[in-house]
Amino acid sequence: MASISVFGLGYVGAVTAVCLAHKGNRLLGVDLNPLKAEMLESGRTPIVEVRVEELASEAHRGDRLHATTDAVAAVAQTDISFICVGTPSQRNGKLDLRGIERVCRDVGEGVRRKNSFHYVVLRSTVLPGTTDSVVVPALEAASCKRNGADFAVCFIPEFLREGSAVADFFEPPFTVLGATKDCDLAQLRELFAWARAPIFETSAASAEMVKYVCNAFHALKVDFVNEVGAICKEVGVDTETVTRIFTSDTHLNISPAYLKPGFAFGGSCLPKDLRALTYRAKELDLRLPLLESLLPSNAAHIDRAVEAVLRTNKKKIGFLGLSFKSGTDDLRDSPLVHLVKRLLGEGCQCRIWDEDVVLGRVLGSNRQFIDETVPHIGSLLSSNLKEVIEHAEVLVVGTKSVSNDKLTAYLHTDTVVIDLVHLDKSRRLNTQNTYEGICW
Ligand SMILES: NC(=O)c1ccc[n+]([C@@H]2O[C@H](COP(=O)([O-])OP(=O)(O)OC[C@H]3O[C@@H](n4cnc5c(N)ncnc54)[C@H](O)[C@@H]3O)[C@@H](O)[C@H]2O)c1
Repeated sequence: MASISVFGLGYVGAVTAVCLAHKGNRLLGVDLNPLKAEMLESGRTPIVEVRVEELASEAHRGDRLHATTDAVAAVAQTDISFICVGTPSQRNGKLDLRGIERVCRDVGEGVRRKNSFHYVVLRSTVLPGTTDSVVVPALEAASCKRNGADFAVCFIPEFLREGSAVADFFEPPFTVLGATKDCDLAQLRELFAWARAPIFETSAASAEMVKYVCNAFHALKVDFVNEVGAICKEVGVDTETVTRIFTSDTHLNISPAYLKPGFAFGGSCLPKDLRALTYRAKELDLRLPLLESLLPSNAAHIDRAVEAVLRTNKKKIGFLGLSFKSGTDDLRDSPLVHLVKRLLGEGCQCRIWDEDVVLGRVLGSNRQFIDETVPHIGSLLSSNLKEVIEHAEVLVVGTKSVSNDKLTAYLHTDTVVIDLVHLDKSRRLNTQNTYEGICW
């Protein structure tokens, strides 16, 4: 069993301390606030949270839980230090790292005076890059020792929610071990071996980002369903029925579907239906800032693609794909059509290949759409894949229905490839030049 110090006895630190003690480890809580340290030292909880009192007193009786205000002694007496101090917002929203910097100086001083190896695990929520660029240098400066040689730093995000913190701690959705350079994760993996959910091992920066992405998504879900509820109520439909049916779809709704970073949405339904719904809300004097933000957000993503192409300073652009989605000839509100139009306006010479949108085969409403809305684009279409790829100084991949071998054979070695559909690694073009997406 491990010997662990926990710095910061707030919601995260107190829960971490009592839960890890419950798993049989020896815990030493550390806080600047002597009252919090005294409470935990006497087996009481410094926070109000279901089961924490019970676990604190259980660990206290088993002599597995102590607390102190002495940081140096805490590092000396333990093998691993968890950092759980607060990272509040400044008035302008910027993350306040003063608590992190202070605790790094305290822990670093302990590491300086210690002769054996020490692990430092950051659990406070910090922006990507903070562990590498703030925590490691601060610990190295205070300890006069090297990360990876005399101590090791790891970022492990915490996913507990107040109110169900103990239950969440014991049943996390996953454990993410984010290592800094040369950090051996074996001992930390062991510490969480009881967790039933998967353990992911990655860089500290990725682990830091996962935490923000999870919280941003949770906030998005709350606001989404509240806006849905608000419009349901206004139009007189039962919110509960709608959300029950909506959430029962685990294929497209509550699932990884639509969660692969790639290009903007389009087609004949999503933009039109969003416009109709938000227009109706406006008629009802109902503000739906989240739903209203979706089309502007989508347009900003098309802007990113325009900028990515223009940044290359090349003018001959080849497009693979034009319809809004592979396997259809539907051009209505296709973001690729918007992209081509923007690039033509910037003086680019575009050639387009899309096997589903070969002019001779396009009929009905799509033929009419091309003739009336984008007649100049029709003339840029080619059914000759080789010709389009050979034309391209920049090749924009906008469809998944391309064969890797053919493309690689035709591609110039210096063609820049901008992959908007985020092809799986095995299907990407084999180019010695730049191959990139606009959001990966
Ligand atoms: N509260 C949550 O539900 C939750 C969940 C996941 C992650 N987080 C993140 O975890 C971190 C901690 O959050 P919290 O809500 O537990 O904070 P908190 O404010 O409740 O507790 C922080 C504690 O750290 C102590 N402290 C500050 N500097 C110290 C130092 N140098 N040495 C020892 N103790 C020190 C403070 O006295 C305080 O008791 C934050 O980054 C937060 O974003 C919080």
